[in-house]
Amino acid sequence: MQTISTTQTIRPAKNLHGSFRVPGDKSISHRYAMLAGLAKGTSRLYNFSTGADPHSTLGCMVTLGAKVNTQSDGTIEVTGVGGAFERPVGQLDCGNSGSTMRMLSGLIASHPHVFTLIGDESLTRRPMERIRKPLSQMGARIDLTEGHAPVTIFGTPLKAIDFATPIPSAQVKTAILFAGLQAEGVTSISESVRTRDHSEHALRAFGAELTRTADKITIAGGQTLTGIDVAVPGDISSAAFFLCAALLFPDSNLVFDGLGMNPTRAALLDVLTGIGLKVKVLNLEEKHGEMVGTIQVNRVQGGLKGADISGALTAQLIDELPVIAAIAPYTQEGIRIRDAQELRVKESDRIALVAKNLKAMGAEFEEFEDGLHIPGNQKLHGARIETGHDHRIAMAFSVAALRAEGETIIQNAEVASVSFPEFYTLLDNLAER
Ligand code: S3P
Repeated sequence: MQTISTTQTIRPAKNLHGSFRVPGDKSISHRYAMLAGLAKGTSRLYNFSTGADPHSTLGCMVTLGAKVNTQSDGTIEVTGVGGAFERPVGQLDCGNSGSTMRMLSGLIASHPHVFTLIGDESLTRRPMERIRKPLSQMGARIDLTEGHAPVTIFGTPLKAIDFATPIPSAQVKTAILFAGLQAEGVTSISESVRTRDHSEHALRAFGAELTRTADKITIAGGQTLTGIDVAVPGDISSAAFFLCAALLFPDSNLVFDGLGMNPTRAALLDVLTGIGLKVKVLNLEEKHGEMVGTIQVNRVQGGLKGADISGALTAQLIDELPVIAAIAPYTQEGIRIRDAQELRVKESDRIALVAKNLKAMGAEFEEFEDGLHIPGNQKLHGARIETGHDHRIAMAFSVAALRAEGETIIQNAEVASVSFPEFYTLLDNLAER
């Protein structure tokens, strides 16, 4: 598919205020779509992500025999294959979505067909050995091209394993859990850092049983899933752009409704509170294991403090680091990010692109193989932003642009629609100029 390249001009703002509901969480939408596709019966997925990535997952579900209907209000109705995926007619196109390629590999590896998973140029550069290794140990035969897509899976019955994930990755954990659900025996996974646990909640919601101790998750094979009606909470990683933007204006006032507040994703709120965000939780409830709430945020009076992000915290904030880095020059104490080498193999090399764009906007910083140190008290000026076709880079520098001097041009701005198609319109509605 050919997309037309567009630019967005972001003008500085005076303030940011308003109330809104962020679209459905990308991570949770992927998981609900996959489990609904495998399950028996029809699922209704409300507030499903509007991003292109979860729609790539839905497309793959259709190729695998599930029926997908989109209602006029955006609700996605999925009728699953009842445990047996069909032989795909054609390739499974994962688009730009690493989550689709990695998690789907685990979901389909035990089905008796040959599957080929492909992706766009960025996805074809991303490491896939991390899923091949555990799935091969379970008995799957998976061919890669020098560690990358296309991924060819020769489906075969799988056996349970005991696996310790060497790099913290919810996608790898999920691939193993989804394979373990359909393997012979009891699979267990230990992770050194607790990554997002949406798969665990989603599996339970669709009727599977699994157990979790402090550092181990266990799932028995041979379990079947049943379709459900479920609402996807708002995406906190999309909200992150506005949460960070709220820090840039002394009188900002934003209300986020229906926001996903899963504790394995909410470290962001702690870090931003440390920098100077006031967060008021107006309500909080649990739905299908996920916490969902309404929050109101303002900025504390006085200057913004800094942050030192490393170790487990880095892994928990992995998707939010570009925007945190982009606002770092506006803090007083600066921001240091380390242990973030994974950022180099996301949709782009996010450390290199953050560095390049900070430099274009006039900031000073130090770049490391695994992070950045960006001193505070710096002024930025408008620039042309190179997004590297990475949605989070486009949105992170749109936020930095709100306090820069002069206009900023975001190149290939349309890439934001990978996770957040409404981003620029929402930013325009909330920004006071
Ligand atoms: C995701 C996990 C993270 C994250 C990605 C979504 C998920 O990737 O960066 O955007 O939905 O499980 P890793 O598993 O590679 O850390």
